[in-house]
Amino acid sequence: MKKLSVIGIGAGDPDHLTMQAVKTLNQVDVFFLMDKGPAKETLLDLRREICQRYIIGRTYRFVEAYSPERQRDDTDYTASVEALNRAKQTTFERLINEELSDGQHGGFLVWGDPSLYDSTLRILQAILDAGRCAFEFDVIPGITSVQALAAKHKVPLNTIGGSLEITTGRRLAAGQVGDASSVVVMLDAGDAYQCVSDPDTRIYWGAYVGTPDERLIAGRLGDVADDIERTRKAARKEHGWIMDTYLLRRP
Ligand SMILES: C[S@@+](CC[C@H](N)C(=O)[O-])C[C@H]1O[C@@H](n2cnc3c(N)ncnc32)[C@H](O)[C@@H]1O
Repeated sequence: MKKLSVIGIGAGDPDHLTMQAVKTLNQVDVFFLMDKGPAKETLLDLRREICQRYIIGRTYRFVEAYSPERQRDDTDYTASVEALNRAKQTTFERLINEELSDGQHGGFLVWGDPSLYDSTLRILQAILDAGRCAFEFDVIPGITSVQALAAKHKVPLNTIGGSLEITTGRRLAAGQVGDASSVVVMLDAGDAYQCVSDPDTRIYWGAYVGTPDERLIAGRLGDVADDIERTRKAARKEHGWIMDTYLLRRP
């Protein structure tokens, strides 16, 4: 039987790997690298560094695969993500069939943790459900960018007894958030925090958290929103891409 491990590698700091992740890295024969977009080289370099640093006395290989991209002009976001996942499913199936022999162990190194805004688990389950490919798989949790952000700002994610909502910039900008006292926003392609009407809301913002390029800003939204917008713009210009997350705390 083929075996796959979906390994959470943290959101940019190689020190965030768990002991379980390190043990699993040392059992993998083939790592599948699926990154894409302008950040591709940086994301791939971190994966290579992690393997170099933590795998001792074992031969392994990397297989890079073209990772399809979502149609950005598509107005139906969910439909475009589903279409993307079908395309990814075909790629994953080919990799498992062609690059992994029976008895071998394959690894997917997932940014942060596989449970949060990542489709790897959904795709593997869909492949198994389709019955065209046989393998067993396990999941090794990782530190999410949300945990890394909270640690850097030295704040808890929730207020006492309060709820936490984790959502996207797209939903925040569309006013599609509930009444949780704390809201974490990810995947913000615009500046959705500028849509929050109460200037007394506190924001804890971080970009490239855990990496040498880390930027952190915190304060009253009314005081720091424009500073964050300027910083994001400059960072995008400098790096060509940005990965940022923020916690909003309602007053
Ligand atoms: C596709 S999601 C993947 C999330 C990942 N599975 C996790 O557990 O953090 C990508 C989003 O995660 C957030 N993100 C990932 N790495 C980050 C980092 N180092 N600093 C800040 N935000 C990060 C950003 O909101 C980015 O748009």
